[in-house]
Amino acid sequence: MPQSMKLDLLSRRDVAQDIAEFVFGNSPGPLPAAEPGGHIAIETPSGAMRQYSLVHPGSAPAAYTIAVKHEESGRGGSRAMHKLAVGESVLVQNPANNFPLGSASEYLLIAGGIGVTPIYSMVQHLMSEKARLRMIYCARSAQDAAYVPELQELLGDRLTVHFDGGDASNLYDFWDDFAEPSKAHVYCCGPGPLMEEIKGISGHWPDGAIHFEDFAGVAAVREDDQSFEVNLQKSGQTITVPDDKSILEALRDAGVSTTSSCESGTCGTCKCRLVSGDVDHRDMVLMDEEKPNHIMICVSRAASGGLVLDL
Ligand code: FES
Repeated sequence: MPQSMKLDLLSRRDVAQDIAEFVFGNSPGPLPAAEPGGHIAIETPSGAMRQYSLVHPGSAPAAYTIAVKHEESGRGGSRAMHKLAVGESVLVQNPANNFPLGSASEYLLIAGGIGVTPIYSMVQHLMSEKARLRMIYCARSAQDAAYVPELQELLGDRLTVHFDGGDASNLYDFWDDFAEPSKAHVYCCGPGPLMEEIKGISGHWPDGAIHFEDFAGVAAVREDDQSFEVNLQKSGQTITVPDDKSILEALRDAGVSTTSSCESGTCGTCKCRLVSGDVDHRDMVLMDEEKPNHIMICVSRAASGGLVLDL
């Protein structure tokens, strides 16, 4: 189970259009290390857990800095974060890292949009190590790009910034960077289409040279999902899971406390014992042998009928 701590919002500022930076601290001592590429999970004011990359690396930081894009069409986590006021507290889980920076003789860092946050952290670390690196940063426009002045100051002409204006015919052409495999390790974070493009053009590169950070995970609900009932065997409660909510969200709405972190089927934190029922397993973590008796309640649902959980 991830450990949690309560931290206060010390400051916030806008770093791009619809992107705000939040600095959390006020812990009694130094915080657990923030590795380059690492992230924290935060219980947002809406109650939902969301993961955010740490903007600054540090071995014993006094504060954690994240940047959050306001997603109007999202499921409410970013909207709730953008309403946070300085002085308010949130529950923060200890940092984790699914995007660790390995050792390489040179680095090519690629960021798209809000995907700049873990890449900026890597730049700060690699520059302090005097590593050989280049960075390519793609965004729709200058207003949509965060941390450009800071990156320019750190990287100078090793930074390429490309604005496509939202025009699909004006996307950055990565072929020159990938035509010939090099000794560089590539670290890429950005929207799905950018990461798919890098995957598509790097197939001839050595195994293990291309690394991605992808928070997308599995969608909590799909358009054709149906409502169903969950019976909690220990408490005797029966909860209706609406067609537009996950089991986890329905339990939270009913005041049933559970533990979660990614809420996208990738971390394993929300694993529950299944007493009975036909499950549509959608997560990316359960082993086949675990599936008859367990369910990841942040994304999986009833395939038919209702479910009985050991809660
Ligand atoms: S909260 Fe991470 S898998 Fe469910």
